[in-house]
Amino acid sequence: MVFLHKAEVHAVRDVSFSIKRDEIFGLVGESGCGKTTLGKMLVRLLEPTGGRVKIGDLDVTSLRGSELQRYWPNLQMIFQDPRSSLNPRMRIGDSLVEGLRLSGRRDLIEDTVQEIIRSMNIREEILNRYPHEVSGGEIQRIVIARAISLNPKLIVADEPTSNLDLSVQAQILTLIKNIHKERSIPCVLISHDIEVVQWMCDRIAVMLRGRIVEEGPTDDVIHNPLHPYTRELINASSFCRETTEYQEVSQTTDKGCPYAERCAMVKQECRSSEVQLKGGIHKVACRAVIEG
Ligand SMILES: Nc1ncnc2c1ncn2[C@@H]1O[C@H](COP(=O)(O)OP(=O)(O)OP(=O)(O)O)[C@@H](O)[C@H]1O
Ligand SMILES: [Mg+2]
Repeated sequence: MVFLHKAEVHAVRDVSFSIKRDEIFGLVGESGCGKTTLGKMLVRLLEPTGGRVKIGDLDVTSLRGSELQRYWPNLQMIFQDPRSSLNPRMRIGDSLVEGLRLSGRRDLIEDTVQEIIRSMNIREEILNRYPHEVSGGEIQRIVIARAISLNPKLIVADEPTSNLDLSVQAQILTLIKNIHKERSIPCVLISHDIEVVQWMCDRIAVMLRGRIVEEGPTDDVIHNPLHPYTRELINASSFCRETTEYQEVSQTTDKGCPYAERCAMVKQECRSSEVQLKGGIHKVACRAVIEG
């Protein structure tokens, strides 16, 4: 996937990565770095100003009008706040089958619902209730079930547990992991929590100010972080979890490294010219690391 750009303010710039079918790919980075924006572009809820999103050989970004409407059920996004994803005036069971109904797959409703509530441990009695009558964790389960019912080709889960009690966070993450394993649906997991991506993801990309500064297999990135920003993120996660407040940074129009103003290794050219993500399976965009 490639997003090209013009010289304007962009929440996401020069991002390019690919995901295999059997992978959970993590997008991690501080608040405001562009994770949600990128996630929405992947599922065509936001239009990139340039670049492409491809699923297999299909250029999803080229779909328009009725073609896009037909394809949309294949692109599912799960949001941070499960309650905002369900219609508060609709019974949960109706919301669950809404996707199948809207996509004209009414014949699948009965079997799919039975299969899904069984495999996802959903209590049947909640299907008759309204969203305000059940817990956030149960709602997120329904939102995930609704996404899965459409047998999507890509799932983007945007901080899917950040609004939930600690006690149910692990359950929901385990659910996503199991679904992914059983159904081989490629999944992009967005999180600001490096421990969550470490546990969930096969590969991760670290984002800063709209760009990917490091990408690679999760263990490599966590245990051998190359970019100074990745190191900062990991240190903050392990040592000052309670107290860290990530700096909200404005998106950049400048050409330099997005970490330049905070970097101890900064050189003059880091401020003035772009540095590309380089490397084999473990890539980094840092002049000091690449040039040694
Ligand atoms: N609708 C919008 N209009 C203008 N700017 C926006 C809009 N949505 C997001 N932005 C800006 O785009 C940048 C990226 O935002 P985004 O929500 O993608 O970040 P994020 O990494 O998901 O952050 P968080 O971890 O807080 O969810 C931010 O600087 C944000 O202020
Ligand atoms: Mg976000």
